[in-house]
Amino acid sequence: MSTSIFLLWLVSIPLTIHATTNPHPPQGFLLNCGGGKLEQDSLTYLPDDKFIHTGNKTEIKQQGIVPLLSSVRYFPDLVEEKFCYQLPVNKGRKLLVKTIYYYGGFDGGTVPPVFDQIIDGTKWNIDTSKDYKDGGSSYYELVMVAHNKVLSVCFARNEHTTSDPFISAIEVLYLDDSLYNTTDFAKYALVTLARHSFGSHDTIIFPDDKFNRRWDEFVDINPVVTSHVPVTPTTFWNMPPAQVFENSVTASRGKSLVVNWPKFMLPKTYYYIALYFQDNRTPSPYSWRVFDVLVNGVMFFKNLNVTTSGVTVYSTAWPLEGNTTITMAPAINSPVGPIIAAGELFQLLPLAGITLTRDVAVMEDLRESFDKEPRDWHGDPCLPTDKSWTGVECSSGTNPRITSLNLTNVGITGSLPPSISRLTALSHLWLGSNKLTGEIPDLSSLQSLETLHLEDNQLQGPIPESLGKLPKLREVFLQNNHLKGSIPGSLKNKNGINLKVSPGNEVSS
Ligand SMILES: *[C@@H]1O[C@H](CO)[C@@H](O)[C@H](O)[C@H]1NC(C)=O
Ligand SMILES: *[C@@H]1O[C@H](CO)[C@@H](O)[C@H](O)[C@H]1NC(C)=O
Ligand SMILES: *[C@@H]1O[C@H](CO)[C@@H](O)[C@H](O)[C@H]1NC(C)=O
Ligand SMILES: *[C@@H]1O[C@H](CO)[C@@H](O)[C@H](O)[C@H]1NC(C)=O
Ligand SMILES: *[C@@H]1O[C@H](CO)[C@@H](O)[C@H](O)[C@H]1NC(C)=O
Repeated sequence: MSTSIFLLWLVSIPLTIHATTNPHPPQGFLLNCGGGKLEQDSLTYLPDDKFIHTGNKTEIKQQGIVPLLSSVRYFPDLVEEKFCYQLPVNKGRKLLVKTIYYYGGFDGGTVPPVFDQIIDGTKWNIDTSKDYKDGGSSYYELVMVAHNKVLSVCFARNEHTTSDPFISAIEVLYLDDSLYNTTDFAKYALVTLARHSFGSHDTIIFPDDKFNRRWDEFVDINPVVTSHVPVTPTTFWNMPPAQVFENSVTASRGKSLVVNWPKFMLPKTYYYIALYFQDNRTPSPYSWRVFDVLVNGVMFFKNLNVTTSGVTVYSTAWPLEGNTTITMAPAINSPVGPIIAAGELFQLLPLAGITLTRDVAVMEDLRESFDKEPRDWHGDPCLPTDKSWTGVECSSGTNPRITSLNLTNVGITGSLPPSISRLTALSHLWLGSNKLTGEIPDLSSLQSLETLHLEDNQLQGPIPESLGKLPKLREVFLQNNHLKGSIPGSLKNKNGINLKVSPGNEVSS
């Protein structure tokens, strides 16, 4: 399964602010990375500090840019595998995740860094160079379902990275369940490539779109008409805002309407396409029109009857490549020409998977129990495979499991939580030469454990009896702790065991 998919939607955000009213705020997170609380486009963005434990903040010293783009958080550290925001979300809910980048020469350079963005376990390459050269910001957007109680939004260096990764703003907003609901979100995310309001000269965002989806303007050679009656967005599963129906493009009677959209070449893969239509005339028994919709000459929907209430047609997985043309061919004898109001196009992004949720929960427990754990212990512990947490090794597959935990001599303090026994795929547990205190918990469920290194710590209490019953265990180092009691017979007499308990404990054999 491919995890590096290239992404095309690099759209400039205009450097202007829309007028503010007082609409109902969307639900979720709006973060002004590296900066303070601010209001923009009727939305309140908050500082990001609560959701990330790494990175540095800086201001962009440039006149005339919108407040949201005037600060960044950047990541100078060269040791951490990835830099992660952790956002508590409602598992199972659908999310619109948007990451916004404006370089602004924050590091004194002239060219933005190239790096990876990783949302949960799925990553892709971020390159904002072209937009920056054109004087704009960039943003990436995807629709996904929260597969966990925590959503991680991470950044990481890759082989092309020569300066520090950064981020300007993050939006994570809840979408209603009905939106794009024919997609199998267990397997895919939808990456937004184009969302346009045809015939519109203005961008439509919040509060018109209550989820702050951005409907870009789109004007071509086709005539523009205005709607005489508003649609009701909630009658559409995807809830397009009423404003995208205010303008439409059309063709004169008897002619086909041809729209070349989107205006860039698409890579050969599968796409979710939704098209929105409304007969713009004043409602009457005759205000409807019928036409066929074709995509690149292939029938997409036959005899579509478009009324003043509006209608949408969509495809969950439609193959496209290169230039795309939408053709609306009128029914014979139709007294009016075809019409189209808006369109959305998403690339289907196969998810790379996520670490088995049960293992993630234990790792989060460990992070709580340890102090001075590696700073990159955030985000998915195993994925992407080349960016697992420091000291963590995993099995392969879409739900990898933790097979080895090795934090030898990294200076951790704290204790071993009993939950560690739930890492049942663990073969190697090496925590030697740290400052761990407390007792060794019951490890009897670690049926795959082969080697256990807890030497040179400050562990107390007895050596658990259960260790002797682990079928694969062949190496146990416990010397130089404050353990007491006696070595369990089952362990001492285990066939072929390499057991080291002294010096440094008060254990009788
Ligand atoms: C980033 O922040 C860290 C910790 O606050 C500090 O030690 C480091 O010098 C800063 N790096 C830069 C490049 O400012
Ligand atoms: C999508 O949402 C609509 C509206 O709630 C519902 O009627 C429909 O059954 C849903 N479809 C799927 C595939 O879940
Ligand atoms: C289109 O829909 C309208 C309104 O529902 C209806 O009156 C009309 O007969 C339909 N036209 C066709 C060709 O089905
Ligand atoms: C795409 O197709 C349209 C309509 O057929 C054409 O006008 C346009 O030049 C094509 N664009 C490219 C890049 O080939
Ligand atoms: C654990 O890390 C230590 C120190 O880096 C290394 O010597 C040891 O071989 C590692 N153990 C395993 C099982 O990889």
